[in-house]
Amino acid sequence: MNTQNDAFLKALNPTDTSAWKEVGKSHPHESAILHVVGEATYTDDIAESQGTLHAALGLSQKAHARIRSINLDAVRSAVGVVDVLLASDIPGVNDCGAIIHDDPILADGLVQYIGQPIFAVVADSHDNARRAVRKVVIDYEELPAILTPQAAHAAKSYVLPPMHLARGDVKQAFEKAAHVVKGELLVGGQEQFYLEGQISYAIPKEGNGMLVLCSTQHPSEMQHHVAHALGLHAHNIVVECRRMGGGFGGKESQSGLWACVAAVCAQKLKRPVKLRADRDDDMIVTGKRHCFHYDYEVGYDDNGLILAAKVDMVSRAGFSADLSAPVATRAVCHFDNTYYLSDVDIRAACGKTNTQSNTAFRGFGGPQGAIAIEYIVDEIARNLGRDALDIRKVNFYGRNDEEGRNVTQYGQKVVDNVIHELVAELEDTSEYRQRRMDIAAFNATSPVLKKGLALTPLKFGIAFNVTHLNQAGALVHVYTDGSVLVNHGGTEMGQGVNTKVAQVVAHELGVPLENVRVSATDTSKIANTSATAASTGADLNGKAAQDAANKIRQRLAEFFAKLHNGEVTAVTFAAGFIQLGEHSMSFADLAQKAYLARVQLWSDGFYATPGLSWDSKTMNGSPFSYYAYGASVSEVIVDTLTGEWRLLRADSLYDAGNSLNPAIDIGQVEGAFIQGMGWLTTEELWWNKDGKLMTHAPSTYKIPGVSDCPKDFRTNLFKNRNVADSIHRSKAVGEPPLLLPFSVFFAIRDAIASVADYRFNPPLQAPATSEAILKALTAVEEMAAQSI
Ligand code: MTE
Ligand code: HPA
Ligand code: MOS
Repeated sequence: MNTQNDAFLKALNPTDTSAWKEVGKSHPHESAILHVVGEATYTDDIAESQGTLHAALGLSQKAHARIRSINLDAVRSAVGVVDVLLASDIPGVNDCGAIIHDDPILADGLVQYIGQPIFAVVADSHDNARRAVRKVVIDYEELPAILTPQAAHAAKSYVLPPMHLARGDVKQAFEKAAHVVKGELLVGGQEQFYLEGQISYAIPKEGNGMLVLCSTQHPSEMQHHVAHALGLHAHNIVVECRRMGGGFGGKESQSGLWACVAAVCAQKLKRPVKLRADRDDDMIVTGKRHCFHYDYEVGYDDNGLILAAKVDMVSRAGFSADLSAPVATRAVCHFDNTYYLSDVDIRAACGKTNTQSNTAFRGFGGPQGAIAIEYIVDEIARNLGRDALDIRKVNFYGRNDEEGRNVTQYGQKVVDNVIHELVAELEDTSEYRQRRMDIAAFNATSPVLKKGLALTPLKFGIAFNVTHLNQAGALVHVYTDGSVLVNHGGTEMGQGVNTKVAQVVAHELGVPLENVRVSATDTSKIANTSATAASTGADLNGKAAQDAANKIRQRLAEFFAKLHNGEVTAVTFAAGFIQLGEHSMSFADLAQKAYLARVQLWSDGFYATPGLSWDSKTMNGSPFSYYAYGASVSEVIVDTLTGEWRLLRADSLYDAGNSLNPAIDIGQVEGAFIQGMGWLTTEELWWNKDGKLMTHAPSTYKIPGVSDCPKDFRTNLFKNRNVADSIHRSKAVGEPPLLLPFSVFFAIRDAIASVADYRFNPPLQAPATSEAILKALTAVEEMAAQSI
């Protein structure tokens, strides 16, 4: 490919480069064309090495049981089977737990959910391995199973000790409150539904080496899990991931099982082994977004100002801890959303249930924390006969220090609050007030079809809430032809982190983006990386890559200044040229000349987010680097006879700071909006009475389709330079917009409330499936009938 060289040559030496930039521009995703033409390589597309074998997992059919015996005779003699491995075949540690070591790779004597892997079959083909698995005969001794978070809470069955965060004097504050709202809410979980399922391909290398090609958000953790499972050191293992076909949190920790099984099989058989989950197995085996149950009690005054808030939440953690603790912590730290809660008492527990071990999913507990307070605010408004938007505004964090309403319940000061301005802008551009009146008029004359409207705000803390994870590394190579190769610790899952990091490096070196290429994430290049998660991918890796590129730029500037007897500080890099006064040279020539002068043309880079603190015992500190803000307005129409509904129009405004790439950011906001809408409406996880997940394929689990997107879908970025020193003053965008479609849920609730003149709070649970909508409608009609 000579196009890169051509780009250098074509870049004319501009006379004025002051406006030149590569960040803040809407470049297409670095792999967009490859995605479209089908050339983008996912793990299963990588050419297989000679002798590759294929593994499949044998899964528990009981939710909680002791295994008395396993008869594998028919499995071993099935067509194409090479070997069958059990927990006893794992040479090292049988664990792939993210934080706590309670997550066996293969169940050893005890099974804790339907779908838990017990053994692995290795065969000559994927199909033969899957067919053989079914021939097993297992004798179980059944044990009592706990299936719901409420049941776990009642039994005090937890994967870790419950959390408690309190501020102020809640008891006294309740006494002062003129009104109290009390109730419970159930919000369902969500399957990540990445288009590319879990997959790992392990290839043995000489001298106890193991290369694992893995679809994972966390190559370093995969490296450690595999090393422990094999009884080897980290330096024996290389984990590589070029890209994922989506992760959404589902590959933050739970790619571990697949990596470990493939590696254990490959090591034992000394042959490459691939383990690829088909969709049903993927959904039955892996964890999802935590469903949450809340008991709440909130005191407020005549104006709707919240004076006291008490909430007791319990999540469905599943059988092991996985990431449930940080997820619950984030829920606790997002219960405030955009509201100042002076006196609060928040309890959060992670219910141990005999179901899949739930894990990260876009928002990571943040959406689950914030939806509870939004539900409450929505009820306060209806109880007072006010527009919910007005109640929201009354409770917003203060604009500044003077108001004394800017410290979160966990002690972090909110110094960047833009929710007032952002919501005002959206209220205006969405014509919220006018449409509210139009909808009232429509509903008054429409007996069956009812419209609803809601505006919901969001505030989301950016940083891993485990402080030490906020670090990243990068490696930048400049070759003698001036082309640039970047490697960083982040992983590409479609979100565009590679494009953004490449933009940062191109900008720093003053070269066009086409001259920068990002290579696959590889544990042998950048060590000890954090998961690409918590929306920090571009924030952390962008800064690390900038650091690396800046070191090279500095060396080149010194070299060029010396060449022309000038000041280093007067050297500029832009549009593919280096310039010093009247002297200029193309970046390619510069690289060649610098090489001959023995200037180091590559560098590492590192970044650690400053100013973070967190005490997990007191649940106090400043865990976030800054907050991202946003709001959306949704208008729905509900058929009150069938519970069917459509989203008619959605307006979103999201604060991406000085966006690194507006096109990619808008894509993230739209994608998160629709994904979050699916969570709160059509995506229902359903386990039968034995604890078997029955919704394990797209036939029974309904994610939104293209036709579910509103015809009128307006997404804009709010102009706002980050006050924190983030990469080019941008803000993270990956997860926060998942909270935007709260407005869809509350618009549906609004439409339901309209059937009884907005006098009662519809007991709508999430997801608001047609069935749930009908249930809530019936409840409202009954309340209305009783009140006459
Ligand atoms: N966008 C796409 N297309 N695919 C994904 O898997 N994951 C989301 C979000 N956006 C995801 C996505 C999640 S859960 C996170 S934490 C962030 O991207 C991670 O990437 P970032 O930190 O680089 O934004
Ligand atoms: N987000 C995602 N993953 C995490 C976090 C978080 O806040 N904290 C620890 N792991
Ligand atoms: Mo995202 S849930 O932090 O992977």
